[in-house]
Amino acid sequence: MASNRGVTYMGPGVVDVQSIDFPKLALGARKCEHGVILKIVSTNICGSDQHMVRGRTTAPKGIVLGHEITGEVIETGRDVEFIKKGDLVSVPFNIACGRCRNCKERATGVCLNVNPARPGAAYGYVDMGGWIGGQAEYVLVPYADFNLLKFPDKDRAMAKIRDLTCLSDILPTGYHGAVSAGVVAGSTVYVAGAGPVGLACAASCYLLGAAVVIVGDLIPERLAQARSFGCETVDVSKKVSVAEQIEQIVGVPEVDCAVDCVGFEARGHGADASHEAPATVLNSLMEITRAAGAIGIPGLYVTDDPGGIDENARLGRLSIRIGLGWAKSHVFTTGQCPVMKYNRQLMQAILYDRIQIAKAVNVEVIRLDDAPRGYKDFDKGAAKKFVLDPHGVIGEN
Ligand SMILES: NC(=O)c1ccc[n+]([C@@H]2O[C@H](COP(=O)([O-])OP(=O)(O)OC[C@H]3O[C@@H](n4cnc5c(N)ncnc54)[C@H](O)[C@@H]3O)[C@@H](O)[C@H]2O)c1
Ligand SMILES: [Zn+2]
Ligand SMILES: [Zn+2]
Repeated sequence: MASNRGVTYMGPGVVDVQSIDFPKLALGARKCEHGVILKIVSTNICGSDQHMVRGRTTAPKGIVLGHEITGEVIETGRDVEFIKKGDLVSVPFNIACGRCRNCKERATGVCLNVNPARPGAAYGYVDMGGWIGGQAEYVLVPYADFNLLKFPDKDRAMAKIRDLTCLSDILPTGYHGAVSAGVVAGSTVYVAGAGPVGLACAASCYLLGAAVVIVGDLIPERLAQARSFGCETVDVSKKVSVAEQIEQIVGVPEVDCAVDCVGFEARGHGADASHEAPATVLNSLMEITRAAGAIGIPGLYVTDDPGGIDENARLGRLSIRIGLGWAKSHVFTTGQCPVMKYNRQLMQAILYDRIQIAKAVNVEVIRLDDAPRGYKDFDKGAAKKFVLDPHGVIGEN
């Protein structure tokens, strides 16, 4: 029997690489004839994983983490028709059946058939259907023909694997944030958060032709990373307000489009930056976005947060000044990114050198065994996107 190892959540602050079952083409007692087994080529650590590892969700101990997966198909179920053994594929982090109303409408982030508890599923994530995560050597991917994006040329793809690994989540997610905020040629944009999603969003804004992209955070190294590819930056912990800092850059205290790449663990601004204030980013974006503008909200908000700052926050209820957004006719787009809507086009943008995403998010490739260190460094705010290389095929950089 072949072996497998995966990054396992052991309890708040602790992950460990453990022996786990080799995946089978099975869903409970039923055969999973529409699925494939992947040998994982690269699998990334995400800010979304950190919410679980920090104990800020109801994730049970023992779950195998990892929803950002790229791999080679080593086994196919009977009903898989178009994906073949040997294909190198990117896996959208959303699991989708391809058959329900939402999938047919391309809302694959809220597929109705893959999670009995609520719409939407993902690999290795709390409340997302119990699918086994892919920060591992091998993983099962169901509904393979529908879910998988095949890279057209394996050698060409391996040469750009550090970039293509971002297609499973952060690049489409950042791009979706930009598109849903209405970014077009000439837009002025504010992106809250300079983590990997914020940086992927900023790079996407330039791909879409934005005139200026201003990235806000409070970690100096992350702001420097944003400047490394041409962004302007705002330090939200400064006494000077975000609106005033924006005015110093674009001449007015507002932008055309804004994107929340922070989510519910947001810090306050100015003197409040030392502590968490979960509604800060949403309220600040309503303040600085022009009337009739749109706000993209890929940053994650949860329905249950054991570590929330008060009773309301523990249930995902935040004090949002919706009256201001209403008065300005703002459009809000929330939720998981429907990765499949964007991943093919973004793959082409990578293959034809239109976007340097690995450079923008500062990809660092590490061994599977070094995942606990990756989690720690990322949690401390390293300006890096950690990519695990479970079979040693990418090599450390
Ligand atoms: N919608 C989706 O499909 C989707 C997909 C991937 C990630 N996410 C979510 O996107 C968010 C970002 O992911 P990431 O991997 O970049 O995480 P991250 O934790 O690395 O980045 C968040 C950044 O926000 C900064 N921050 C905190 N408060 C701030 C404030 N008030 N203003 C500006 N910046 C502030 C932090 O310092 C940090 O650098 C997370 O909530 C993650 O769960 C959503
Ligand atoms: Zn992710
Ligand atoms: Zn579906």
